[in-house]
Amino acid sequence: MDVQQAKLHLESSMLIGVDFLPVATQIETAQETDPTALLEQLSMEHDSTCEHCTHTTHYTQTVFGVGNPNAQLMFIGEAPGAEEDQQGIPFVGEAGKKLDEIITAMGMQREDVYIANVLKSRPPNNRTPSPDEVAKCAPFLGKQVAVIQPKVIVALGGSATKYLLGTTTGITQLRGKWGSYDGISVMPTFHPAYLIRNYTKETRAQMWSDMQQVMAKLRE
Ligand code: URA
Repeated sequence: MDVQQAKLHLESSMLIGVDFLPVATQIETAQETDPTALLEQLSMEHDSTCEHCTHTTHYTQTVFGVGNPNAQLMFIGEAPGAEEDQQGIPFVGEAGKKLDEIITAMGMQREDVYIANVLKSRPPNNRTPSPDEVAKCAPFLGKQVAVIQPKVIVALGGSATKYLLGTTTGITQLRGKWGSYDGISVMPTFHPAYLIRNYTKETRAQMWSDMQQVMAKLRE
């Protein structure tokens, strides 16, 4: 039962004179199946219990995720950078602009997809998250994925790919080849920041070929 159905049920029950329904229980149950509410709860749970983010002090605010909670496609990056740390939204800096271009080229908008990171707080000096930091924070990403249940995940760069595929193999070897996380198809590809730094005909063609595979999978 969703929130709308629960409200209708409540209204019709009141019309026929039933005023003793355990209404709160009904609505609570409804909210627990609503992905927006679940993600909100999860974000709060993360902020109060994450073994990494509640202990480190190098950041302004956590950056949980943004986008369509029913998205078919999810992009997962590494960790917030300076701009994301300020705004509380993933991929809003230079790499985010590149990601927006990629999403547009795929015929979608940011609002159609869901965007998150392996680590929910900015590491000092934007360094790569350590395995220990990932081990402590990334279970919340796992729960996020379980709520959204996308058809396809694009792993942006090495950190996301290593975590999702449980591998230590480098991204240059893994990109363009399907993997799987919890039964969900994962396409590892370059991180947009890498693409900006290495903006060659070859890297652009590789990235686009990866995204074409993703688009084909979404159409299946
Ligand atoms: N790089 C990431 O991996 N994630 C962001 O949110 C921004 C930059």
